[in-house]
Amino acid sequence: MNTYDLIMKKRNGGILDKDEITYIVDGFTKGEIPDYQMAAFLMAVYFRGMNDEETTNLTMAMADSGDRLDLSLINGRKVDKHSTGGVGDKTSLIVGPILASLGVPVAKMSGRGLGHTGGTIDKLEGIPGFLTSISEEAFIKQVNDVGLAIVGQTANLAPADKKIYALRDVTATVDNISLIAASIMSKKLAAGADAIVLDVKTGTGAFMKTLEDSKKLADAMCRIGNMAGRETVAVITDMNEPLGNCVGNTLEVIEAVECLKGNGEARLMEVCRELAANMLVVSGKADSKDKAYPMIDDTINSGKAFDKMKEFVAAQGGDVSYLDNTDLFEKTKYEKIITGKDIIKANDIDVNEAYLNECDNQEIGMASLLLGGGRRTKDEIIDLSVGIRLFKHLGDRIEKDEAVAILYANDENKMSEAFNRFIKAYKVTKDKAAGNPVIYKSV
Ligand code: URA
Repeated sequence: MNTYDLIMKKRNGGILDKDEITYIVDGFTKGEIPDYQMAAFLMAVYFRGMNDEETTNLTMAMADSGDRLDLSLINGRKVDKHSTGGVGDKTSLIVGPILASLGVPVAKMSGRGLGHTGGTIDKLEGIPGFLTSISEEAFIKQVNDVGLAIVGQTANLAPADKKIYALRDVTATVDNISLIAASIMSKKLAAGADAIVLDVKTGTGAFMKTLEDSKKLADAMCRIGNMAGRETVAVITDMNEPLGNCVGNTLEVIEAVECLKGNGEARLMEVCRELAANMLVVSGKADSKDKAYPMIDDTINSGKAFDKMKEFVAAQGGDVSYLDNTDLFEKTKYEKIITGKDIIKANDIDVNEAYLNECDNQEIGMASLLLGGGRRTKDEIIDLSVGIRLFKHLGDRIEKDEAVAILYANDENKMSEAFNRFIKAYKVTKDKAAGNPVIYKSV
């Protein structure tokens, strides 16, 4: 077998067998296949696609490229959740404590933000003292004692994915269904949970822009998970605008605290309830989603879910006084209010009020990144305190002198760049706009 022949086979539309895919994945992970050949292979996959069997074989080869976490020492049925990535998506910070407070063990490995999407680990690092890297022993003990631990991925969890993703990221080969499905599921399978709930985002801020592609991605991931013996379900949710009211690392922690105190924004809470309900069902704690919803509402309303968040943060070394009093989080030097007038002017129409009709959500993610809240390359340092607070959502009416959002920055130049990006992201109409549903489908 040689790499050149396999690249050519895929380039010409051929189907690769298990041994051929394993040869490529192992060879690249060990450094025996150079970047330029792997890049050519990925581009061939991008254009020619992979069938179900190839995608499964790719996933397994990547999952087997490093350690597989053994969660057998954790009592109960372990449930993991994963989002395909979005803007303002802080659902793990909310759903994790909800599930743990209801007795479902959550042992979660999360990623950092890259590009316009945010990452749970960066958000948690916004809490002073919080440790995102703890030993496997401490991780397992914490899940047994507290019910919840969230850590960054260890270096040897699916190392093939780490190397391949870094190459995809600079060769325009990220947004391919087989490659995304294999990337996500290789990490989920290696991370060892018994059941997996996937939040597949769809829309302008997601990797998958159309509902049709999101459905295909959800189907592919569920098929791989179930075939590997892990009960896997997916919910397709909207990413045509940021989820909730905040985008930015500590801002999203503050918003998660508000949600767990029962003051969450409606669309964000709808997604959290749906994910949590699915997790309760696959964990065996609830017979149906209808039985799960009141359990979720009760644990929030009784304060148990928020108490669980504090217990989890304290167990990982975080200073919980920041959760009790979110005013303690560091403030940025600059704030800029974006008014209805700014957005209406950017749309070049002459009205005093209008409706938010469309949002290029990737641009909102980019505005947050430009403020310093995200990273273009994986080593970029991010400013955890900057971000965006939104007061309006799609379908809402905006008046000229009304605040639509506030930008938070520590650098004035970054503020003006982000401002220009933000105001152009929205399209307004004179007539009432409908907005989008937030949950599209369960798979
Ligand atoms: N998230 C991942 O982990 N991998 C991808 O390829 C895309 C999103």
